[in-house]
Amino acid sequence: MAFFLNNMVSLEYQNSISPEQGEKAFQKLLDTLNTEFILIVDGAISIKDNGLYNVVANYKGKIITGMEAVKMTAEKAKYIIAVGTCASYGGISAASPNEAECRSLKQFLQESGIGKQVIILPGCPGNPDWIIGTIANLIEFGVPELDDEGRPIVFYGTTIHDNCERRSYFDKGIFAEKLDDKECMFKLGCKGPITKVDCPIRRWNDTDNWPVGNNTPCIGCAQKGFAKGIEPFIRLSDIKKN
Ligand code: SF4
Ligand code: F3S
Repeated sequence: MAFFLNNMVSLEYQNSISPEQGEKAFQKLLDTLNTEFILIVDGAISIKDNGLYNVVANYKGKIITGMEAVKMTAEKAKYIIAVGTCASYGGISAASPNEAECRSLKQFLQESGIGKQVIILPGCPGNPDWIIGTIANLIEFGVPELDDEGRPIVFYGTTIHDNCERRSYFDKGIFAEKLDDKECMFKLGCKGPITKVDCPIRRWNDTDNWPVGNNTPCIGCAQKGFAKGIEPFIRLSDIKKN
């Protein structure tokens, strides 16, 4: 990560880790608009009440909403990346009742008349490898090969189920009955068969572990429709029956 930040990119603006604060931070973002840059958006875009549910800056007495900031930067960006499931598909933020009227980045840009390509990196949260790998690819080679949703195939080309270490149990029809059993967790609600991403081989915390490896069914956090569209995450009736 340190090599990436020190040698590969110049991180100009990020509202949590920018060294500048307040107006100075937002000025940095405005200055970046006149350069060649990659826009990376995490979180869904709230449009209710003209975006007032998500204020990112107070600049020269004017409130700047996330909606405005995304619009002004997307228009000028060389590449645009949506990081995480909320930016990619709306995710938990856009799940009903969606009080803040959240949109995915792509939907928001389309509705705003900005028809630019958006590379999406869904997952809740995004794995650092997906993010750094995609940015490095953009810098060195341009846009990576994408599927028809805009996901880089190198990370999202296979399902969890394709590479899961419990797959042999599934193929033999041997299923876990409770969460600390070692067999396939399909009957406990695992969404691995419908979730396309490389968690079983990529893993988390510096490749240490991943949900199924930690006895938790995949809840499909990287899949379109997460969260509301792919419930239930676990079928309590199945557990009781067994
Ligand atoms: Fe597939 Fe989930 Fe079973 Fe793994 S635990 S084999 S991903 S259903
Ligand atoms: Fe999410 Fe499933 Fe990977 S829950 S982190 S997509 S294993």
